[in-house]
Amino acid sequence: MNGARVLLVVSGGIAAYKAAALTSTLVQRGATVDVMLTADAERFIAPLTFAALTARPVYTSLWDAPERIPHIRLVREAEVAIVAPATANLIAKLRAGIADDLATTALLAARIPVLLAPAMNAAMYESETTAENIATLRTRGYEIVEPESGFLAEREHGVGRLASEERLLEAIERARARRRSLLGMRVLVTAGPTQEPFDPVRVIGNASTGATGIALAEEAARRGANVTLLLGPTLLAPPNGVRTERFATAEELLALALRESRDIDLTIAAAAVADWRPSEISAEKRKKSDETLHVDLERTPDVLAALSAAGGSRCIVGFAAETSDHEAHAREKMKRKALDAIVVNDVRDGAGFGLQENGYVLLDRSGARTDLGHAEKRTLAGRLLDALEPLLKGKT
Ligand SMILES: Cc1cc2nc3c(=O)[nH]c(=O)nc-3n(C[C@H](O)[C@H](O)[C@H](O)COP(=O)(O)O)c2cc1C
Repeated sequence: MNGARVLLVVSGGIAAYKAAALTSTLVQRGATVDVMLTADAERFIAPLTFAALTARPVYTSLWDAPERIPHIRLVREAEVAIVAPATANLIAKLRAGIADDLATTALLAARIPVLLAPAMNAAMYESETTAENIATLRTRGYEIVEPESGFLAEREHGVGRLASEERLLEAIERARARRRSLLGMRVLVTAGPTQEPFDPVRVIGNASTGATGIALAEEAARRGANVTLLLGPTLLAPPNGVRTERFATAEELLALALRESRDIDLTIAAAAVADWRPSEISAEKRKKSDETLHVDLERTPDVLAALSAAGGSRCIVGFAAETSDHEAHAREKMKRKALDAIVVNDVRDGAGFGLQENGYVLLDRSGARTDLGHAEKRTLAGRLLDALEPLLKGKT
């Protein structure tokens, strides 16, 4: 933990006293800790305790030194933020985007990993509202350090005790390690569908939304990589902190990809590129008629094969969206296009497209097979990068 910069947010729950012990351990292990307390946290524990433990100012209000804009400064200076304990109230406010005090405003502005350690009465924790708030925050990239079961302040037994200090420290360490794991690396991600026009207003497209590639680009940037995202036509917003270039057709993607793929450490090709496009594009909108319209299709360029052949990337990973015989097809594709690894993703019955959940299996050149399981796309993005990092290191 030596040299770590941690922002600890304490909200108003009975476990607030445990945040003092956590602060002391972090400081003893060499971390620099800034502490923020909500107004209700101050009812449970005094700012003085944290000021003495950290030998630093403790922040309790947006309005104390507004000229220093503490809600932005503190989340910029920290590597990781942890909310311990996180009350049901603070969790609900975060989910809704309410920013009516220093803690919630700072957390809304955070681009660093944010860990939430809920602690509350079991009934509050298990209520549908809190469960749904936590599930939503998880899909948005917050890491939840699950509470434990045991004796609660209300003299009841149940789930809702703040995670042990050991688990909180481990979660902080993991978040820090992840944050630096791609530091200085150049990562290129392609994402989204293509749209191949056949007249000025009509296109042949596909069901991809770009969510997978967007999650991967965001996660790579969070780990310190310098990321370029090539994004097809989608209504989803590109992530912050990622240079994004837009394309519509396979041809445009090919041109961008070849231009951008110099001195790249890792390329992840998650775009769903059309295999065929209309052979002719009518200059005029085709008139509606009762007759069947026949459109001739020709092959589009093979973007992934071209990228691989161009050799500008140290490690190239493709995606295989398959509906049958998934792994055999994916292995064949990996070999044919000379990829380092391929992610197999089952798209039977439309699964995988647009949905927040998906399931991946990673196959690599050496023959290894890693099942990354089913999860939200953001979680899977983290697991995929965890699995690719050793592969990348092996190629240095
Ligand atoms: C004695 C007492 C203990 C409380 N403990 C908790 C708790 O453990 N978890 C929780 O979510 N709320 C708890 N609350 C309720 C919160 O203090 C309340 O929702 C408050 O508005 C939280 O404010 P904050 O989220 O801005 O810190 C407790 C309230 C009291 C009076």
